[in-house]
Amino acid sequence: MRDFDETTITAAVLARFAATPDPRLRQVMQALVRHLHGFVREVEPTMAEWEAAIAFLTATGQMCDDKRQEFILLSDTLGVSMLVDAINNRLPAGATPSTVLGPFHVQGAAEKPLGATLAAGAAGEPMRVEGRVTSADGTPLPGAELDIWHSDADGLYDVQHGGEPPELRARFRTDAEGRFHFTTIAPTAYPVPTDGPVGAMLEATGRHPMRPAHVHFLVSAPGHRTLVTHVFAAGDPYLDSDAVFGVKDALVREWVRDADGLRALRYDFALAPLT
Ligand code: BEZ
Ligand code: FE
Repeated sequence: MRDFDETTITAAVLARFAATPDPRLRQVMQALVRHLHGFVREVEPTMAEWEAAIAFLTATGQMCDDKRQEFILLSDTLGVSMLVDAINNRLPAGATPSTVLGPFHVQGAAEKPLGATLAAGAAGEPMRVEGRVTSADGTPLPGAELDIWHSDADGLYDVQHGGEPPELRARFRTDAEGRFHFTTIAPTAYPVPTDGPVGAMLEATGRHPMRPAHVHFLVSAPGHRTLVTHVFAAGDPYLDSDAVFGVKDALVREWVRDADGLRALRYDFALAPLT
C-alpha cells in the first residue's frame, strides 16, 4: 500500500496495528491513532503550528526530572488526571471521594504520635485537625494510616525549599475508635508551578494557575481501597476555578475557629471496602 492521502491514511495506519498481539495494546494504539487523526483533521495545523506543538512537548519532557514532572502537570491542567481518577474511583455510596495526588507527595514521611504537630518549626496560623476513619458503612477503622502533606503559609511545599526543614508532612495512625488528631499550620491557596511550558500554556490561554487552600490526605487500612484526597477550605476564592479541576463539594469544609481561638479542620474519612 502506498499513495496515501488525507482520506486514506487513517485506515492504513489502523490496519498497520491490526496484528498487535496484545489486544489491550491494539485497542490503545488504534484509539490513539483515530483520535489524533481526528484532532488533526479538525484543527488543520499549519507546518509552523505542528512544529510549535512538537517544541512544546519536547520542552515539557525536558522539564522533567526526579523532582519535577511537567507531563503530570500538563495532564492535571488539561483535566486528564481527574478524568482518569474518576474512571478508576467509582466508589460506593458513603465513601469519601478521591481527587488528584499532585506532585508533592513523598513516600516515607515520619510517623508521629496522635496529638503531635505535623509542622514543627513552620510559621503560619496554628490549626488543629481531627476526625475519624471508618469503612463506607460507618464501621470505625482502628490503626488506619493517614499520610498528610500541605503547603506553607506562603503557598510552598517543603520539597520546593530544596529539602530544607521544616517538613510539612507526617503519618499518623488512628486510635482504637478510628480517631485521629494533630496540629499544624493552615495552608493557603497557591499557584501550580508556572516556570515551565505548562505555565506558558496557562498564560497564553488566559487561565490562572491557582489551587484553593487544601490539605492532602492519603488514607489506607487493611481490606479497603486506599483513598487519595484533599480537604479544601470553604470560602476560598479559587474553589470554582481550581487549575487542576480537583474540587468536589464533599471535600470542602469550613476551617472553623474554636472557642479557644484556634482554627480547626474536622473531617471524617470513609473508605471503600475492597471487593
Ligand atoms: C497539589 O495539590 O499539590 C497539586 C496538584 C496538581 C498539580 C500541582 C499541585
Ligand atoms: Fe496541593
